[in-house]
Amino acid sequence: MHDGAAPLPLLFTPLPLRGMTARNRVVISPMVQYHARDGLVNDFHLVHLGAFAHGGAGIVFTENAGVVPGGRVTEMDLGLWDDAQIDGLRRLTTFIHGQRALAGVQLTHSGRKGAVQSAPEGNGPLTAADLARGRKPWQVIGPTTEPVGPGWLVPHALTAAEIAGLVDAWAQAARRADRAGFDVCEIHGAHGYLLASFLSPVSNTRNDAYGGDRAGRMRFALEVARAVRAAWPAHKPLFFRVSALDGAGGWDIDDTVALAEALKACGVDVVDCSSGGLTGTATAAPIPRYPGFQVPYASAVKSRAAVTTMAVGLILDGPQAEAILQEGHADLVAIGRQALYDPFWALHAAQALGCDPDFALWPSEIGWWLEKRAKTLQPVPKAAE
Ligand SMILES: Cc1cc2nc3c(=O)[nH]c(=O)nc-3n(C[C@H](O)[C@H](O)[C@H](O)COP(=O)(O)O)c2cc1C
Repeated sequence: MHDGAAPLPLLFTPLPLRGMTARNRVVISPMVQYHARDGLVNDFHLVHLGAFAHGGAGIVFTENAGVVPGGRVTEMDLGLWDDAQIDGLRRLTTFIHGQRALAGVQLTHSGRKGAVQSAPEGNGPLTAADLARGRKPWQVIGPTTEPVGPGWLVPHALTAAEIAGLVDAWAQAARRADRAGFDVCEIHGAHGYLLASFLSPVSNTRNDAYGGDRAGRMRFALEVARAVRAAWPAHKPLFFRVSALDGAGGWDIDDTVALAEALKACGVDVVDCSSGGLTGTATAAPIPRYPGFQVPYASAVKSRAAVTTMAVGLILDGPQAEAILQEGHADLVAIGRQALYDPFWALHAAQALGCDPDFALWPSEIGWWLEKRAKTLQPVPKAAE
């Protein structure tokens, strides 16, 4: 048990978010795993995501879930376009709650980056070999008919009426997420997917109300934020993931600060600061990557837009995460690959920060044993050396 002698690390200080409280500031970042069929959750997701809740995280996000079938990145992704998808997800959120974590869902539309290979397949457009293996492309959509790049599917340019239909699909998906028991909802506005493709002037060259100046390019994202906020219960927090820089030179941190201010006015509670992805694959890295490389974006948004932020990207251990919070750069840290490497990342971070010497934060059926082991552990007797 933390004895109160030393101040509790910020990482393990509970964070109230509207009517919910995260037990700590460790968030499992959305990570797609390509195990869904027809958008339905299954035992794979329960085990995969359940492990992070068991492992002590404060909020566990699902992978990106499509708000319509064509909004998935691949046909192996989760979805929330159909009431039939609710019951399985409720089983997942019930388990996560049983581990005292909050359950988060990320709602997305892939836009012109849909119908692609999974990451292990290469993350690019489907090839002839992929089609021969049964992978099926669909008509992708975007601000214009401009594809992501050579060889990528040519999008259909959305009409204003179609945009209105998608705003409604986002709201419907949020209602289903609430019925499934999720506590936190995140709108995916990053990585070159549909909303991000409308934000950047590199991909959005429309000259109607959804293009042109920054206000026009932000219109779709803000309509989605307002619609989801209206559909999502007032006591539940709403996150929005941004690409603080689009990686293509069209959208920069000043644009992101302006977007964050507008999102806050729409009732968005947390701006989740990622970057890149407008051109090329989701795993392409035009922005140099080093530990904490995106923290300055969360920091700028937090100080300039006066909004709660989440930092993400190569946050590797407890002391690094704690420093990000202590230095006031962000209010939450999202852990991606390091949590795949170590699903007990949060509890190991507590050990590293010295705030859980008695394993009291662990599930009691584990912590009881680890505490006894630590107390009774003796040096190897001399004769046995
Ligand atoms: C396997 C995997 C799947 C991912 N899927 C998503 C996703 O569904 N939605 C999203 O916004 N980001 C996704 N990302 C990006 C992560 O959420 C995170 O922003 C990124 O990995 C950087 O954090 P890290 O260095 O801690 O891994 C994914 C990353 C990985 C490694």
